[in-house]
Amino acid sequence: MPAWKSLLSVLALASTAISCAHHDDNAEVVPEHEREELLKKWDQEWSFSGIASFAHLRPVKCLIEPTEHYDIAIIGAPFDTAVSYRPGARFGPRAIRAASARQMSGTSYNTRAGINPYKSWAKITDCGDIPITPFDNGLAERQMYEAFLELGSRKIVNQPAGVAGRGIGAKHPKLVTLGGDHSVALPALRALYEIYQKPITVLHFDAHLDTWNPVRYSAYWQSEQTQFNHGSFFHKASREGLICNSTSAHAGLRTRLTGVDDGDYTTPGPEQGFIRIHADDIDELGPMGVVDAIVNRIGLDPEQPVYLSVDIDVLDPSTAPGTGTPEPGGWTTREFIRILRGLEKLNLVGADIVEVSPAYDNKGETTALAAAQVAFEIITSMVKSGVDEELGGWYGRREDGSGGVGVVEEVESAPKDEL
Ligand SMILES: *[C@@H]1O[C@H](CO)[C@@H](O)[C@H](O)[C@H]1NC(C)=O
Repeated sequence: MPAWKSLLSVLALASTAISCAHHDDNAEVVPEHEREELLKKWDQEWSFSGIASFAHLRPVKCLIEPTEHYDIAIIGAPFDTAVSYRPGARFGPRAIRAASARQMSGTSYNTRAGINPYKSWAKITDCGDIPITPFDNGLAERQMYEAFLELGSRKIVNQPAGVAGRGIGAKHPKLVTLGGDHSVALPALRALYEIYQKPITVLHFDAHLDTWNPVRYSAYWQSEQTQFNHGSFFHKASREGLICNSTSAHAGLRTRLTGVDDGDYTTPGPEQGFIRIHADDIDELGPMGVVDAIVNRIGLDPEQPVYLSVDIDVLDPSTAPGTGTPEPGGWTTREFIRILRGLEKLNLVGADIVEVSPAYDNKGETTALAAAQVAFEIITSMVKSGVDEELGGWYGRREDGSGGVGVVEEVESAPKDEL
């Protein structure tokens, strides 16, 4: 190489180095009018397009963005190494996000509730997933706890009005966790206890109790880690004093019990901190009767935080087959949605939808669709409680007592002989 040539290449190298060092100075700025044009032209997603965040919300890895703020966050907890039967719920968050595709902010007016939760006061963000180890459940517990505590301790963006604005939760964002097996609720409750500094009311929809003493699985082979499993986490949470024993409720129960009698229902201990509403009770009570039983127990105290935990197996396997421990004889999706709508005045500070295990789902994504809808109803309630206006809605009970049963417009029926 002639000397001049090598000098040139040295200069070229140097200029590359300089342009790298001063990258920002040379960064191209898109003129505003061009940006506007681009947004008009391309800033659109179809229900079936885009990278699968929940309801097409802007995805942010909130755990690595400490300045990211929100009023409600969706957070995935892809964890399933604490299950007793079929594993696979680590794929739940992905499946629920994919199944939420038809929830677009522009087309998500919830007729049952009278509000579009994605176009109201709340900033809602999909915070991605907690990267939970599948190799060490003790470590997984800690990772989840730290993540829930961090995300739940951030500053909110918009002050809620209405009942949510007057309650203990007014200054804190709300997390909606997509599980994951049900044990993710334990670190979630630990974080909420830390944030609210008091025992939390738990409203638990499930076919199972999940308050089992861990000796149920083996009285002989015990370790600290065998206590952390998807059937005993409420037992542990109760022993740790995280659950308010006088206000919590199970709903949708139909599981077989341990032993030869109803000892799980009568033995003193953490098992008894909940009232029990059985799946079959809906036949006598109807969905709104189930709602009344729950509200009577839990109350509407704005100073008492409520955690809503939904195991998708509360639904019948015909409407939610893709789950770890299915139990025939559950509620339909419609019944459950109606119950959830009736609970919109509860003081929710957080929620989870767990045990969606897509490997056992069918090609129509039945279970994941149900879970995405449950999340939508919960988010709707969280947003609606922060609105300073009586919105009513088909199922919403109005302050004047006129709600409860949907208002059906009278349709003039055709004369009988014409039919
Ligand atoms: C709830 O009951 C359990 C079991 O009886 C107990 O260990 C726990 O401390 C109680 N929780 C609170 C908050 O009082």
